[in-house]
Amino acid sequence: RYRKKERLYELHRELANYYYLCLKKNRNAQYYLAGRKITPETIKAYGLGLAPDGWQNALGFLRQKGYTDQEMLDSGLVMRSENGRMYDRFRNRIMFPILNATGRIIGFGGRRINEDDHGPKYLNSPETMVFSKGTELFNMNHAKSSIVGGQMLIVEGYMDVISLYQHGVRNTVAALGTAFTAYHAALLGRYVGEVVLCFDGDAAGESATQKAITILKNTPLNVKILRLPFEDDPDTYIQKHGRDAFEKKITEAITIVEYEIGLLRKKFDLSQTDGRIKYINQAIAVLRQLSDEVQIDLYSKRLARETGIDLKVIRREVYRKKP
Ligand code: CTP
Ligand code: MN
Ligand code: MN
Ligand code: MN
Ligand code: MN
Repeated sequence: RYRKKERLYELHRELANYYYLCLKKNRNAQYYLAGRKITPETIKAYGLGLAPDGWQNALGFLRQKGYTDQEMLDSGLVMRSENGRMYDRFRNRIMFPILNATGRIIGFGGRRINEDDHGPKYLNSPETMVFSKGTELFNMNHAKSSIVGGQMLIVEGYMDVISLYQHGVRNTVAALGTAFTAYHAALLGRYVGEVVLCFDGDAAGESATQKAITILKNTPLNVKILRLPFEDDPDTYIQKHGRDAFEKKITEAITIVEYEIGLLRKKFDLSQTDGRIKYINQAIAVLRQLSDEVQIDLYSKRLARETGIDLKVIRREVYRKKP
């Protein structure tokens, strides 16, 4: 089994090399990356590549390197159809090698180049002997040696990580097109005490933020939340506004309580009595989940100031015994 895994690591490394050289030879793919403002230095730093168009490019390359059909199938990078024909998983896609924390390539993400091509925008390696999505974080290998202020940033996508890297923000990881898991949190906890959730500004990013919060509440990690404008993700935001503006956003990132109360504020119509009462009561319910008295005191005072409700009333409700 050890030997098998070593072969798979080696297979990934050689194929990444091949994809890298294919990108070097392909104008169209280079043009795509240039259009997204990715520099040749970044392409090199991340080992980005191109899976050429065609069904048996990786297959032919790996065969010529001496890999068996079984090894190729085990990698998930080559597949076999019902009629027994072997074919490449990734075709005409920009390739993002996924490295584990020790720097070995364990899988790939592949992005569609032409918007009208078939298949999903991103395609990822499947679960294999060396790759498990629920436990790996993209860019952990870089991020762990670039920690700033005991913090790691969590973003949604490959392009977010890479674009931030290019602007000098390097303590960033991405969950790999799957939900953020408790394993991801545990992995992060080995390196940092605090994480900042920087998901896309859209509805999907909002829902991903809420799901990650649910996981992170059960960990010792301190959590901050950075919400971007609806139309942005970290990549587009830092391209439009620059590194300083993005870092200012990080320093302004809010706590889970502030985030949850903010959601309630948006949910209810505060100009109506009924909406105000519901808002206050649900905000109190958020505070009831806290155990830290300092935090309870701080947020209670804020809520009292904001709503004009007597602080004593809020405190009494927060500490009221559960029925
Ligand atoms: N993703 C995926 N499969 C998809 C869509 C998305 O695995 N069909 C994952 C990818 O890891 C992607 C992340 O979810 O990077 C975030 O998705 P999205 O915001 O749609 O993509 P971006 O990262 O913004 O990619 P791009 O800027 O290239 O459009
Ligand atoms: Mn810049
Ligand atoms: Mn998105
Ligand atoms: Mn994007
Ligand atoms: Mn995005």
